[in-house]
Amino acid sequence: AKSMISNQQDQEAIDKAVEFLKQGEAIGIPTETVYGLAANALDKNAVSKIFAAKNRPQDNPLIVHVSSIEMLKSILPNNVVPEVYLPVIRQHWPGPLTIILPASSLIPISVTCGHPTVAVRFPSHPVARSLIEACGFPLAAPSANSSGKPSPTLASHVYHDLQGRIPFILDGGSCNVGVESTVLDGLRNPPAILRPGGLTYELLKNVPGMEKLQVYKKHFVDTELEQAPTTPGMKYRHYSPEAKVILIDRKNELDSKFNDKFERALRDQVEIIQNTGVIVSKVGILRTTQDGETAIWETNTTLSNNIKCLSLQMGRSGHPEEVARGMFKGLRHLDQSDVDLIFVEGISEDREGMAVMNRLRKAASITIEV
Ligand code: TXA
Ligand code: MG
Repeated sequence: AKSMISNQQDQEAIDKAVEFLKQGEAIGIPTETVYGLAANALDKNAVSKIFAAKNRPQDNPLIVHVSSIEMLKSILPNNVVPEVYLPVIRQHWPGPLTIILPASSLIPISVTCGHPTVAVRFPSHPVARSLIEACGFPLAAPSANSSGKPSPTLASHVYHDLQGRIPFILDGGSCNVGVESTVLDGLRNPPAILRPGGLTYELLKNVPGMEKLQVYKKHFVDTELEQAPTTPGMKYRHYSPEAKVILIDRKNELDSKFNDKFERALRDQVEIIQNTGVIVSKVGILRTTQDGETAIWETNTTLSNNIKCLSLQMGRSGHPEEVARGMFKGLRHLDQSDVDLIFVEGISEDREGMAVMNRLRKAASITIEV
């Protein structure tokens, strides 16, 4: 069966989405962060369809999405929101923030994967909110990518990964934030960001009670996770296109020679990789633009030895919210363009840059500092 894509502008499409959700199906929906693969969070059969469609590891718990504080309370033990979260909720919900809460028996084990806690988010996207409201139940929704792939920020990304595996995708255009929500565990002392995301560390730290906020932003995979477990999802290789990703990061943030160094590192790496017997016929480049420089989304050139080269721009350097919005789209576009290698520029970890660098480090198999 083909997956149907319908535009959110159309009331019939929204009604259709609600109908599928009420029938216990898993469907693609827009949120302000990334597209979600949503199903009734209180129905374990519906939830199992999420895991099946995206081939998600069974031990990676899901985020539950609500559309009101009443709905939030209705799924908590004794209907009580822990006090530590009241100021963050007041300031940053609805929005790109997920909080870790005690799980009640209403939440199926498949959502929490047996953890005593549940992750909850109140999205700001108007269509996501009205879908949840119309359903009258919360929606469990991971990012709507095939497990391990870059997160989807366009309906066409969801279609590419999940066509034939889900009945319906609601097209809400491109996601405004572009990276997933920040996952905050306020039940720990001190509170900790388990996954940097759309809501910045700088903003969260300013909230009363969050003065000692910690960040787990390391590239947790395998043994590293065992030493410092944070959020289960962070242990898997993630956000990776098919092509090998090489992250070229800067040692010095204000290096005026960075462009030359980037270029040289790229040529060196291509040569090193060719010397291992790998054929490199096309490379992709994902970079930032400078303020004042004209943004050109796509540029085709050639490297030496007839290697084709496709360059894309993620956003202006110094505007990490733009880079966040363009990063996954850029990785996916390059992957669709049959490049053998992707070279991506590292940015400063300020603001949304923390989430961007977290995702790029996980996507990259090689990181070079120049
Ligand atoms: O922006 C987002 O958060 C998107 C949109 C669709 O809302 N959703 C999303 O879901 O990114 P997903 O499944 O790709 O990531 C969920 C993250 C994982 O890292 C998972 O380990 C963590 O949340 N998580 C879920 N439940 C948890 C829990 N009880 N304790 C700690 N981490 C949890
Ligand atoms: Mg995900």
